[in-house]
Amino acid sequence: MANQSALFLGEFLKSPAVVGAIAPSSRRLSSAVAVPIPERGDPVVVELGAGTGPFTEEIQRRLGGRGRHIALEINPRLADHLRVRHPGLEVLVADAAGLPQLLAERGLAAADVIVSGLPWAAFTPARQAVLLRAVVDSLAPHGAFTTFSYVHARMLGPAVRFRRTLARTFEEVVPGRTVWRNLPPAFVFHARRARVGAAKDRAN
Ligand SMILES: C[S@@+](CC[C@H](N)C(=O)[O-])C[C@H]1O[C@@H](n2cnc3c(N)ncnc32)[C@H](O)[C@@H]1O
Repeated sequence: MANQSALFLGEFLKSPAVVGAIAPSSRRLSSAVAVPIPERGDPVVVELGAGTGPFTEEIQRRLGGRGRHIALEINPRLADHLRVRHPGLEVLVADAAGLPQLLAERGLAAADVIVSGLPWAAFTPARQAVLLRAVVDSLAPHGAFTTFSYVHARMLGPAVRFRRTLARTFEEVVPGRTVWRNLPPAFVFHARRARVGAAKDRAN
C-alpha cells in the first residue's frame, strides 16, 4: 500500500494535471463507484484512469471472474504497476478519448458499465467534452456511468462546469453521499440514459 501511494504521488508530482490527485482512492470510494456493476450476468465493465488500481480491485471483486473488465490508463508506469498487481486483467495504455475505437477493435459494441477515475476538474472544457463524448459513444443504452468529484473542489469552476456538462449529457445524474474516508473526501455521480443527440451536440 505504501509502495502504491509513493508511486502515485511520484507520478502526480511529474504530471499533476494528468494524474489529478495526490493519493489513490480509498476502499470506501472504490466501493461507491462500483455499485452499478450487476451481481449476475457477464457485463462489459470499462475503467477509465485506473491509476494504481483501487477501483480495479473492487471491480474484480464484484465481477468474481464474470464478464469482461478493461482498464485504461494513460500513464505507462501506472499501467505496468496495474499489470503486475492484476495479472490477466486487460490493461490498455491508452487515452480514454479513444474508447469507442478501442472497444470496436475488440469486437465489443458497447460497455454495460463505465467507471471513471479521471480527474475531470483538471481538464479544460474542450477536453472534458471530448472525454464525455467518448463515454457516451461507448455506453450501452441501458448502461451506467459513474465518476467522482472531490468535495473541496466542488464549487470551483472546472468542477461546476463538469457537473453542468454531465447534467446536459445524461437524463439521470444522482450524486452519492460524501465519502469522508478518502484523501481528500469525495462523492460519486451515478449517471444513466444519455440524452438523445448529447454526443453529437457536444461535438458541434
Ligand atoms: C485521480 S487519478 C485516479 C486513479 C485511480 N482510479 C484512483 O481512484 O486512485 C486519475 C488517473 O487517470 C489517469 N488519466 C488521466 N487522463 C487520462 C486519459 N485521458 N485516459 C486514461 N487515463 C487517464 C491518470 O494517469 C491517473 O492515473
